[in-house]
Amino acid sequence: MKPFRRRSIQCILPLALLGTQCVNAVSLDLSDTDSIKSASKIIADEMVSYYTGYRPGDVAGNLPSPYYWWEAGAMFGSLIDYWYFTGDDTYNNITTQAILHQTGSDNDFMPPNQTKTEGNDDQSFWGMAALSAAENNFPNPSSDEPQWLALAQAVFNTQAARWDTSTCAGGLRWQIFTFNSGYNYKNTISNGCFFNIGSRLAVYTGNQTYADWAEKAWDWVSAIGLRDADYNFYDGSDDTINCSQIDHDQWTYNAGTFLIGAANMYNFTNGSSVWEERLNGIIGNLKVFLKNDIMYEAACEAAGTCDTDQQSFKAYLARWIAAAIVKAPFTYDSLKPILEASATAAAATCTGGTNGTSCGNKWYTGSYDGTTGVGEQMSALEVIQSNLLTVVAAPVTEDSGGTSKGDSSAGSTSDIDQSDLDKSVVTTKDRAGAALLTVLICFVMIGGALWIMI
Ligand SMILES: *[C@@H]1O[C@H](CO)[C@@H](O)[C@H](O)[C@H]1NC(C)=O
Ligand SMILES: *[C@@H]1O[C@H](CO)[C@@H](O)[C@H](O)[C@H]1NC(C)=O
Ligand SMILES: *[C@@H]1O[C@H](CO)[C@@H](O)[C@H](O)[C@H]1NC(C)=O
Ligand SMILES: *[C@@H]1O[C@H](CO)[C@@H](O)[C@H](O)[C@H]1NC(C)=O
Ligand SMILES: *[C@@H]1O[C@H](CO)[C@@H](O)[C@H](O)[C@H]1NC(C)=O
Ligand SMILES: *[C@@H]1O[C@H](CO)[C@@H](O)[C@H](O)[C@H]1NC(C)=O
Ligand SMILES: *[C@@H]1O[C@H](CO)[C@@H](O)[C@H](O)[C@H]1NC(C)=O
Repeated sequence: MKPFRRRSIQCILPLALLGTQCVNAVSLDLSDTDSIKSASKIIADEMVSYYTGYRPGDVAGNLPSPYYWWEAGAMFGSLIDYWYFTGDDTYNNITTQAILHQTGSDNDFMPPNQTKTEGNDDQSFWGMAALSAAENNFPNPSSDEPQWLALAQAVFNTQAARWDTSTCAGGLRWQIFTFNSGYNYKNTISNGCFFNIGSRLAVYTGNQTYADWAEKAWDWVSAIGLRDADYNFYDGSDDTINCSQIDHDQWTYNAGTFLIGAANMYNFTNGSSVWEERLNGIIGNLKVFLKNDIMYEAACEAAGTCDTDQQSFKAYLARWIAAAIVKAPFTYDSLKPILEASATAAAATCTGGTNGTSCGNKWYTGSYDGTTGVGEQMSALEVIQSNLLTVVAAPVTEDSGGTSKGDSSAGSTSDIDQSDLDKSVVTTKDRAGAALLTVLICFVMIGGALWIMI
């Protein structure tokens, strides 16, 4: 075995002479499995240091402000991946505890506490964590607890029931509850995560119904123009104008969620040419988010305006690129170089903070940019550990070693009693939704004015 390298210490000479300060970094050699694992561990440890929910008196599964509930679900998903790729089970217990604490009484990730911020996309990030647990044979909860596969099926079933044909000829709304701003917004990430979960459930269970829904979500997003012919994935549209205008912002996680979904549909259809072509289209257009194969959040990174949510989006693109390679091995040659270049660049930014190992956001700059947090750590973690995809066993399905117990009718009880819901606080997410609507309305008015002038 090669020597176990923890971190390289590069002392800057003048500071070293003062005898105290050294600049650390996270060293990473992609040709060395142990190096990838030890870099991942340093980054995971720091990510988890933001979380206190396992402590007595704290609430399991919640991250402190400014992190929304959904990002905690995403973080526990990344810890399931961490265990899968590295074999290190340090965080398995707190992950299981957190996920089970947030299932809500119907076991569908609709806890009453969270309804003031919970949209379909937020629910999905917890559902996808549970689904990853099933696919990776993460240790099952005890039999009197909800099971991973059934939790993911519950999320799918509640969302299929929300498919809304009253406007825009279909689609899922962003928000679940009418009292949240953003209820009128039909967005790409909500529909993309439904597509993602549906396609993966189809592969895992072999049940065609999930694939039919996934196909329906793909078709709708395409028909309404949230995906265009060049495989750009735009942010969303307003149903008060019947989705006749599109918000054209592009985010890494939207391309990513359609990438993994298309790879699973390709796999489910035994390599159909239709899904092969779509998969190639999505891969070809990832260039929107790449500089020399290094991922960047084109809509906000250069301007330095990425918010707390957006700082984590590259984590999901990285995670879903790795999963797409596994389900559609022919994509290896086009996708693996992205994981390699991005991992190397990400590790080079991990020189910030008090320990000199906090990761930054702008990987393409080659150095720490002064921002750090759960999103930055999660993004670096996912992209670095994903490079282990060739040394771990393939994920399982029900027919090939999967042990998680499912329930195809999970979550079919009605959405929780509206009188229980916490409607008290107007959150910044609500305000963001309202701002977005204002922008869309302005857009329509300017369009109208131009029309009159012409
Ligand atoms: C720095 O390292 C110490 C000791 O390993 C750890 O307890 C602490 O959480 C680290 N701080 C950060 C910001 O990662
Ligand atoms: C996780 O929990 C189990 C059961 O409570 C316990 O036996 C085990 O030691 C724990 N593992 C870790 C790494 O804390
Ligand atoms: C809901 O909030 C209460 C009070 O803060 C807390 O005890 C409980 O654990 C929370 N439940 C969830 C699922 O977050
Ligand atoms: C709304 O948009 C859908 C999809 O483009 C279209 O089929 C439908 O006719 C439109 N409805 C109205 C009232 O314009
Ligand atoms: C894929 O192949 C399997 C095994 O040959 C077969 O059972 C299944 O029906 C095929 N699926 C499709 C969608 O062609
Ligand atoms: C489907 O995925 C499995 C790995 O989970 C892989 O071995 C198989 O080759 C894939 N099928 C196709 C058609 O690429
Ligand atoms: C397939 O999934 C659908 C949707 O959840 C469910 O109604 C149906 O019973 C499932 N079929 C089988 C054979 O499990």
